[in-house]
Amino acid sequence: MTEVNKHETIAAEGAVYYLFGATGDLARRKLFPALFSLYKEGKLAEDFAVVGLARRPRTNEQFRADVHESIAEFCRYKVEDAEKWERFASHFVYMSLDINNVDGFRELDRLSKELDAQFGIPGNRLFYLALAPELFGPVSFNLRDGGMLDSHGWNRLVIEKPFGYDLESARKLNAQLSQVFKEEEIYRIDHYLGKEMVQNIEVLRFSNAFFEPLWNNKHIANVQITLSETVGVEERGGYYDKSGALRDMVQNHMMQMLSMIAMEPPSRLHPEDIRDEKVKALRSLRPFESGEAVAANVIRGQYSEGESKGKPLTGYRQEDSVNPQSATETYFAARVFVDNFRWAGVPFYIRTGKRLPVKTTEVVIEFKNVPDNILFANRHDLAPNLLVIRVNPMEGIYIKINAKKPGVDNVVQPVSMEFCQSCQVGINTPEAYERLIYDAARGESTYFTRWDEVAQAWSFVDRIADAWREDGGASLQLYPAGSWGPERTDKLLAQDGFHWWPVNGQAEDNVIWISGGPK
Ligand code: BG6
Repeated sequence: MTEVNKHETIAAEGAVYYLFGATGDLARRKLFPALFSLYKEGKLAEDFAVVGLARRPRTNEQFRADVHESIAEFCRYKVEDAEKWERFASHFVYMSLDINNVDGFRELDRLSKELDAQFGIPGNRLFYLALAPELFGPVSFNLRDGGMLDSHGWNRLVIEKPFGYDLESARKLNAQLSQVFKEEEIYRIDHYLGKEMVQNIEVLRFSNAFFEPLWNNKHIANVQITLSETVGVEERGGYYDKSGALRDMVQNHMMQMLSMIAMEPPSRLHPEDIRDEKVKALRSLRPFESGEAVAANVIRGQYSEGESKGKPLTGYRQEDSVNPQSATETYFAARVFVDNFRWAGVPFYIRTGKRLPVKTTEVVIEFKNVPDNILFANRHDLAPNLLVIRVNPMEGIYIKINAKKPGVDNVVQPVSMEFCQSCQVGINTPEAYERLIYDAARGESTYFTRWDEVAQAWSFVDRIADAWREDGGASLQLYPAGSWGPERTDKLLAQDGFHWWPVNGQAEDNVIWISGGPK
């Protein structure tokens, strides 16, 4: 186990954590491991309890065995000691609950009081709904009607995406939740906001003399955000076919990253000030006013049969639980503009897709070139400076600058300077879910999405969805699984005199790496 600096570790306030959907995949892959890591690091003290809730019957022992198995498989810390394990596991209990029956919630309240007394918890309650969104409303009402919100401590509701299907359904959902919880009690998860390097965007931007003065349309030529995945829809065909990349990735993760790149500096590092600036950036996005504007700026793709590393891959329409005539997009790319003084005229190119050649999330900031100067008057092909933020799975930053080619007169070539965070020995970066659960338990809401951000993002993507619905699938372009998406994506940038920069360390051959180089 990595040694923890105790001075940096502040344990979250004691609370009972209610995991709705405790027998599901998210709990198994992310939530149990996150709780264990927090415990290992002293961010959860002994005054906590976890109540696993799902319909199916399970004993506490069975539940604890499930938790153990999940931690052994997915946690970055290992269970080393039986005695310590028993102590941790004793905080976990299970209750079978029919979420439509308020009596079960009354019983849950009785159980909660026992747990408060047993572990010295001051009545704080954190409800984590790893459930389908249509259940958020009914569960909230039953929490209220079953007396679960009447204890002396705080109540917090943590919910997973998707938050609605479009603006209208999101509004309805929000109206339901706000009958029970105040906005400041609702923690909407976007797990991208829990990623180390997404959080680092703020720090990079606002604490470096290098960047902030250049962070505008005078110096930045374009911004490229890529979120590519190699996986297909796996066993989630049923959900994905109704959602598509636009709702699954763009409305949330891509819009959040874009707003962090584009936002103005907040006046204070207070959650509301930061989120005010993010929502202002989202409001400044130029809306697509017509089907023609969507057609000219947005690419909608779907993978067909293809291959990766010599292995054949099935097409999307052949995937389980997918409509064989589906027009759902598994790929999305767009050119968008943030219409404010800082960004006027700077295109933001965003792309995301499944069954692409690499799994990576990267932000590339391409700077404008220096004017031709005396020394380089005969050269018009200087490479632009780039700042690349590597979010996932590699974490780091590199900048590309021009330097003299060693040993040769007057030859300039791009070199890269790199900070590879994930290469550092001893860094065991916390998972997004660890940060987010810890933040929710501390009442720190910066990296959760506020309702007005969600609504703004929906109103932007709804126009695209409307245009696609109207064209009846005519705009859909197929791309072979394992390729970089429809060819038109390259043309989108070429029209503006740009191209996609290589991602995932596919640095060009002529680059000299000053430190280490791409891994
Ligand atoms: C989820 C989407 O929100 O993010 C998935 O529903 C996607 O479709 C996943 O695969 C990607 O997250 P990450 O952290 O693996 O990049």
